[in-house]
Amino acid sequence: MNPNSVTREPLGAIVFHADEIAAAVGRLGQALTNDLRDEPVLLVGVLKGALFLVADLARALPPRADIRIDFLAVASYGNSTRSSGEVRLLKDTSESIEGKNVVIVEDIVDNGLTLDYLQRLLASRNPASLRSCVLLDKPYRRLVDVTIDYTGLLAPDAFIVGYGLDYQEKYRNLPYLARLEEWALES
Ligand code: IMP
Ligand code: MG
Repeated sequence: MNPNSVTREPLGAIVFHADEIAAAVGRLGQALTNDLRDEPVLLVGVLKGALFLVADLARALPPRADIRIDFLAVASYGNSTRSSGEVRLLKDTSESIEGKNVVIVEDIVDNGLTLDYLQRLLASRNPASLRSCVLLDKPYRRLVDVTIDYTGLLAPDAFIVGYGLDYQEKYRNLPYLARLEEWALES
C-alpha cells in the first residue's frame, strides 16, 4: 500500500474540554458583571471566531441586564496560520458605539495586531468605555502590546481550533478546543 494514501487525522490533542471552556466563560461573565454593575453594555463580537463566545458570554451575564449585541468582522490572516501583519475591516458594527460601554469580544489574541487595530478604531469613536474580553491568550507571541481586560484561558504555543476558531474555515463547530497537528498546517 502506498503510505501516502493513508489518511492522517489533522486534529491533535484536546487542549480544553467543553466544561473547561464553559467554566472560563462563566468566570469572564462574572468579572464583567462585577465591573459593569448596572451599566448598559454593548458586546461587540469579532466574527467569525467569537461567534460562540459571544453567545455564551451574553448568557453568562445577568438575564435582566441591559445588554446589546453587535458584530464586526476583520481579516488578519487570510487562509494562512501566520499573520500577514495586515488587518482589514470586512464588516463594521450595525449600531453606533458612541457614548456606550463597549466590550470587544475576541476569540484569541496571538501577536496582538488584530486587537490593537480594533482598540484604536473603536476608541476613536468616543465610546463611554472600552474593554476587551478574550477567551484565549498567547501572551508570549506578542508583536504589539495590547491591554486585555478579561482573559479566559492561557493557550499553549500551537495552532488551536474549535469553539469558533478555524483552520481554513473548518473546525469552528467543535465543542472543545484542540491542537491542529503541525504537519496539517500550510507553511
Ligand atoms: P493576532 O492579530 O495575531 O493577535 O491574531 C488574532 C486572530 O488570529 C484571532 O482573532 C484568530 O482569528 C486568529 N488566530 C490566532 N491564533 C489562532 C489559533 O491558534 N487558531 C485559530 N485562529 C487563530
Ligand atoms: Mg480566525
